[in-house]
Amino acid sequence: MAETVQHWSPQEDLGTPVSPSMETVELTIDGVKVQVPAETSIMRAALSAGIALPKLCATDSLQSFGSCRVCLVEVANRRGLPASCTTPVEPDMVVNTRSERVLRVRRNVVELYISDHPLDCLTCAANGDCELQDVAADVGLRDVRYGIAGENHLDLVPDQSNPYFDFDPSKCIVCSRCVRACEETQGTFALTVSGRGFASKIAASEDVNFFDSECVSCGACVAACPTATLIERDVVERGLPTRTVDTTCAYCGVGCSLRAELQGDEVVRMVPLKTGGANEGHACVKGRFAWGYATHADRVLNPLVRDDPSHPWREVSWDDAIEFAAARLQEIQALHGRGSIGGISSSRCTNEEVWVVQKMVRAAFGNNNIDTCARVCHSPTGYGLKQTFGTSAGTQDFASVGHADAILLIGANPTDAHPVFASRMKRRLREGARLIVADPRRIDLVRSPHVEAALHLPVLPGANVALVNALAHVVVSEGLVDEAFVAERCDTDSFAQWRRFIEQPAHAPEQLEDVTGIPAAALREAARLYAGAGNGAIYYGLGVTEHSQGSTMVMGMANLAMATGNIGRDGVGVNPLRGQNNVQGACDMGSFPHELPGYRHISDSAARADFESAWQVALDPEPGLRIPNMFAGSRAGQFRALYIQGEDVAQSDPDTQHVQAALESLDCLIVQDLFLNETAQFAHVFFPGTSFLEKDGTFTNAERRINRVRPVTEPRTGLSEWQVVCKLATAMGYPMDYPSAADIMEEIAALTPTFAGVSFAKLDRVGSVQWPCPDAESTGTRVMHETRFVRGEGKFMVTEYVPTEERANRRYPLILTTGRILSQYNVGAQTRRTQNSLWHDQDVLEIHEADAELRGIGDGERVFVSSRKGATVLTAHLSDRVPAGVVHTTFHHPESEANVVTTEFSDWATNCPEYKVTAVQVLPSNETPAADTVG
Ligand code: SF4
Ligand code: SF4
Ligand code: SF4
Ligand code: FES
Repeated sequence: MAETVQHWSPQEDLGTPVSPSMETVELTIDGVKVQVPAETSIMRAALSAGIALPKLCATDSLQSFGSCRVCLVEVANRRGLPASCTTPVEPDMVVNTRSERVLRVRRNVVELYISDHPLDCLTCAANGDCELQDVAADVGLRDVRYGIAGENHLDLVPDQSNPYFDFDPSKCIVCSRCVRACEETQGTFALTVSGRGFASKIAASEDVNFFDSECVSCGACVAACPTATLIERDVVERGLPTRTVDTTCAYCGVGCSLRAELQGDEVVRMVPLKTGGANEGHACVKGRFAWGYATHADRVLNPLVRDDPSHPWREVSWDDAIEFAAARLQEIQALHGRGSIGGISSSRCTNEEVWVVQKMVRAAFGNNNIDTCARVCHSPTGYGLKQTFGTSAGTQDFASVGHADAILLIGANPTDAHPVFASRMKRRLREGARLIVADPRRIDLVRSPHVEAALHLPVLPGANVALVNALAHVVVSEGLVDEAFVAERCDTDSFAQWRRFIEQPAHAPEQLEDVTGIPAAALREAARLYAGAGNGAIYYGLGVTEHSQGSTMVMGMANLAMATGNIGRDGVGVNPLRGQNNVQGACDMGSFPHELPGYRHISDSAARADFESAWQVALDPEPGLRIPNMFAGSRAGQFRALYIQGEDVAQSDPDTQHVQAALESLDCLIVQDLFLNETAQFAHVFFPGTSFLEKDGTFTNAERRINRVRPVTEPRTGLSEWQVVCKLATAMGYPMDYPSAADIMEEIAALTPTFAGVSFAKLDRVGSVQWPCPDAESTGTRVMHETRFVRGEGKFMVTEYVPTEERANRRYPLILTTGRILSQYNVGAQTRRTQNSLWHDQDVLEIHEADAELRGIGDGERVFVSSRKGATVLTAHLSDRVPAGVVHTTFHHPESEANVVTTEFSDWATNCPEYKVTAVQVLPSNETPAADTVG
């Protein structure tokens, strides 16, 4: 751990953004010859040569603005004193940054700032981390001639409405860095400079407090503020950090790189890393602020066991807990056979932790009954992209969206679920890219400040495949196919077959209007826009995968991208926005019952032989059980024991009553988690897990980027999770041990070709790499399928639309669809234990006014939501974001039991549950439901 810790210091700031120019300019600054790219500012040129220049309104993450005038310099043969942040370099320019005149004028400028600033530096929370303080020292300011007795801003009242940061306007120098950060970095436009001259001030929305404004608490303004005006509450209360550890956010699949800033073992703040490949200095409210759950009092830190879930827990030592669990598992296998037990790995755990779980199942349990929570989210992505492109991963890096001309966003809501990627996408849209949103719900990106989708296609839940077929039909029938790309890069037989299929009149938008709910003209326009743009990019989420035809839809999008030549370069591609932080990694690490790590089929004897030789054990060549098969087997009495790593299946999986009955039927359930979650109610053994602040390993994000997760503190439970798994495997008779997490990665690299060139040492050196990273020299692959597809030729797949069996009917006339909200995360186990709940303390049911009126439901009233599977009560929120006939809720709170109503239907290829389509009835909660609707 020692080598990963650094003393605290601010991240390097070169004042203005890097110039993209390839041309080099040479100039002289303070007698030093400096070479920089053309269009670089004088400020950046000087700072990059180690010549310090004071600055207040400039920072290298924002376009320069030139308002504070403290960065003035003298340029030979030029009148006046130009601002170095807004003046670009020129060949042979001669700059003097410290002439007497420059120093005098600068000092005068800073003196004016200080004359209207509280003189409480010694007691200010930012003392030692304040750019105004640094600049005052730099210009040698000792006295302030203009007394602060005159008109000033010192009595302005602080705004402490936000739970994570304060705004003290008395310290504001109106440099507008916060305003520009909110616009340029975050894209929310919540802040403005209101008033003029002396009356200028920073206002949130219509001059309300931060909490009530449009602010989404991303913290970009706080990071940008050069003074203590915007400052983290924890820094105010605890003081500045003393050391830092660079790590990776543990929430969503964006995988932001964060710098944990600490005092001792306590995190004082999280600062997004400018060098982070996924986030480039940005973060959202979850990663930046919602890490308090790691030290929440609800954390269980000692192992627990009990003979029966009806008994109270007994706290025991690690050795006793492992012995108890191993004995139970062995007993069950002796009685019911090798295949009667299995495990589920977690997309929230590191690659190394997942690796040891699948290895334990295969080598110590002796079967392939290993599955992962990706089963319930992105398993169709794995299947669909493997069939068409040859590998189970998104094609681009996030930066690629900056080159897209048309973006087709299907079944994803990035501003809530992938906020930092959404900010990148919004930036590109502000630059002029066109957006097509295909989603039943009017998500924020359809229309928000400075962003408006060219088209919103409110596709009916369950009709995605009809939609993509109709888009492809227009491409084929209107001559929009990129024939050269198809001929050169794709399997032409499969293309010919697909073309015959898609050309059929049945796939014309006009024929499918009733199925998709989309006017044919809009659909035709969308197809032309996507196919006709220079670069067309597809981004999608769980609104694609969590359907009975999730895999078909993924293949349909891949067909569309290949047919239009939108694969293999920047700005294009087919890109899954993965839900959890390590969904990609959990899949890569061999968590599926039919695949060894690196997506090699278990029946492949050559692949199996590699693992058998490395692990010194014979592997079962038969695929094991998927999660739904494990549950069905449990209810049927054949499957008797389950180890679950960090997943709350009792809350997150569909058809809760079925899941709970399956868990109840087990003879041994082992749960490894931070908290006693809903699933733990049914457990016999509880292994306390570690938070991301205690983990040592790697996460792989949605762009295949492998990022280091570094421990900020030792595991609070006494053992790393991978150590617990190794001990359990060893107790079961298969010795497993590693000196460190780095050694697990060494084994991963040795056995997984796409990871062959990955090591902790390389990641520490280069920051992150995107797999494939085939050898020691490789620094990874940003864009896949550039010259050939992983499978050789891209394969077109026929995508017949088969309507889901789940339909609205007289008894259940509405379709329920589910989604996420920005402040909460998944089942909420982490975010509900932070102040994020101030924004979202319960799941609500969005219902269209017409549907509400018909049922006599008012806004804010409790409603009874029932399906043929079960029923729950939620608070109604009348909204025109959902069309009539569709209702929507989130699933972050266990009390709302949203999954009580979801059904057993699932994707035909992967069993990914059909969360997005459930026929329901909604009635005022005081109305008694029919007896058979309560499941
Ligand atoms: S709040 Fe901070 S960043 Fe914003 S204008 Fe004031 S001093 Fe500048
Ligand atoms: S926290 Fe983010 S959204 Fe809120 S005002 Fe600051 S930059 Fe804008
Ligand atoms: S966007 Fe995702 S990875 Fe980044 S800070 Fe937010 S939750 Fe974490
Ligand atoms: S830093 Fe250049 S004008 Fe403010």
